[in-house]
Amino acid sequence: MEHSWDTHYQYFDQKKYPPSATLLNALKLLKNERTIQQDKKFAIDLGCGNGIDTFALLQDQWKVLAIDQQNESLQRIKENTPVIYKEQLQLDLNSFENITTLPNSQLINASFSLPFCHPNYFEKIWHIITLSIIQKGFFSGHFFGINDSWSSKPEMTFHTLQQVKELLSDFKIIHHKEIEKKGKTISGKEKYWHVFHVVAQKK
Ligand SMILES: C[S@@+](CC[C@H](N)C(=O)[O-])C[C@H]1O[C@@H](n2cnc3c(N)ncnc32)[C@H](O)[C@@H]1O
Repeated sequence: MEHSWDTHYQYFDQKKYPPSATLLNALKLLKNERTIQQDKKFAIDLGCGNGIDTFALLQDQWKVLAIDQQNESLQRIKENTPVIYKEQLQLDLNSFENITTLPNSQLINASFSLPFCHPNYFEKIWHIITLSIIQKGFFSGHFFGINDSWSSKPEMTFHTLQQVKELLSDFKIIHHKEIEKKGKTISGKEKYWHVFHVVAQKK
C-alpha cells in the first residue's frame, strides 16, 4: 500500500462509505434462505478494516467474528461499537497468512481484502474459507483481476476470470460482476481497477 492502513481507515471515516453492495446482496438472500436458522446467524468479516461491513452485520442481528491484521482496525471497531452490539462481536488480530482454521459460519464476507493475501498463502486461506461456510451459506467479497494496476505487486494475489470460477467450484454463483475501469484509490491517487464482485452460495 502507498500509505498506512490507518490513513486508509481515516479516509473511509471521513467519506462515510456505505456497506459493500456484495454484502448487502448476500444479507438480502440470506433472509430468504430457509435452511439458515435465523436465530443462529454467525458471520466472519475477513479484513474488516474500519468495520463498515461489520457494523452492518451487527445491525442485522448477526454474531460476528471480525478479523484483521492491523491492530488500528480492531481498536477503531472496538471504540465505535455501540454497547448493545458488544456481546455479538468477537475481534481477532490475525493475518490471512497465519489463519489455520475458521469456525463454521453461515456467511464469510471479505470486501476488498483477500487480494492483499500473499499469493503463497492464498490457496490455503481459500480452502479454510470454503470449509468454514456451511451448506447453503454464503461468500460475499472481491478478487482483483490480472489487469489491475497493482498486479505487479508480488505480495498481492490476482486472478483471471477462469481462476475465479475455479475458486468458486463448490459454490453456486448468485451474483458476479467483473469491472475494469480507470478510477482513484481512496486517497485520491489514479489507479486502474480490475475487480470481480462476487456473491456465491455454498452447494
Ligand atoms: C481495502 S481494506 C478493506 C477493509 C474493509 N473490508 C472494507 O471494505 O472497508 C483491506 C483490509 O484488509 C486488511 N488486510 C490486508 N492484508 C491482510 C492480511 N494479509 N491479513 C489480514 N488482513 C489483511 C487490511 O488491514 C485492511 O483493513
